Amino acid sequence: TTYETILLERKGRVAVLTLNRPEALNALNLQVMTEVVAAAEELDRDPEVGCIVLTGSAKAFAAGADIKEMRPQGYMDMYLSDWFTAWDRLGQVRTPTVAAVSGYALGGGCELAMLCDILLAADTAKFGQPEIRLGVIPGIGGSQRLTRAVGKAKAMELCLTGRTMGAEEAERAGLVSRIVPAAELLAEALSVAETVAGMSKPVAMMTKEAVNRAFETTLAEGVRFERRLFHAVFATADQKEGMSAFVDKRPPHFIHG
Ligand code: HXC
Repeated sequence: TTYETILLERKGRVAVLTLNRPEALNALNLQVMTEVVAAAEELDRDPEVGCIVLTGSAKAFAAGADIKEMRPQGYMDMYLSDWFTAWDRLGQVRTPTVAAVSGYALGGGCELAMLCDILLAADTAKFGQPEIRLGVIPGIGGSQRLTRAVGKAKAMELCLTGRTMGAEEAERAGLVSRIVPAAELLAEALSVAETVAGMSKPVAMMTKEAVNRAFETTLAEGVRFERRLFHAVFATADQKEGMSAFVDKRPPHFIHG
């Protein structure tokens, strides 16, 4: 498949998806949405892909949904075309995903990063939900995922004022797992992705499923869900391999099954 707004690269079991609309700071128009989601779903179906990295440019991961494209739309346009709903499918991809964020991750850009599983930030990263300044509200889950990630106090302030926060603040608040010097961001994201891709794929998928369940259910139900998956991993060859490798004092060679 050929894409116009994204670049797709394969490095062993890692796939790198790079947003590529530099003239608009990677603003997320419908074409970007369609292409990112199609590419991610295609990669998700590929058993040779163990982890997907999503990144942008040094200046912008993504400066938000495309304001010029949204400006003329009315309620019926948004409703009938179910504007932005395809993004939900990125969150449903079962292969682990890593967002490598450098520069602006604003509005839809911040929401896109939050749809990924691991969020790494360059020291230049800037996060925010500035929609209110445009007379709208977040539309790709920002009001929900930012609040779950950083709590009400900071989410409410960011969404109501449109203030942008830097990488340090985002890390302190728990939005990102780590900050990396900008020049090393992609290498570090690849290294994290290679590590994940080297694990048993079904076990990594179940791990992601279990952690994500924490956002959907009660503690008791979440623990029960985890226990079922925990029992299930003992049906994999990779469990025997991982534990045998430990006992034999050698690195494991997972067959992803
Ligand atoms: C369309 C955008 C854009 C966007 C930048 N551009 N962001 N186009 N949609 N979200 C375009 C600019 O119009 C400009 O095009 C080019 O990219 C470069 O941007 P500049 O503004 O000249 O760059 P700079 O001065 O460095 O400022 C960077 C910036 C600023 C601070 C990130 O671009 C900015 O504030 N952008 C909008 C951020 C925002 O509000 N995001 C939320 C969007 S709403 P030209 O043609 O002039 O060169 C959203 C809603 C989600 O995401 C759901 C709601 C329904």
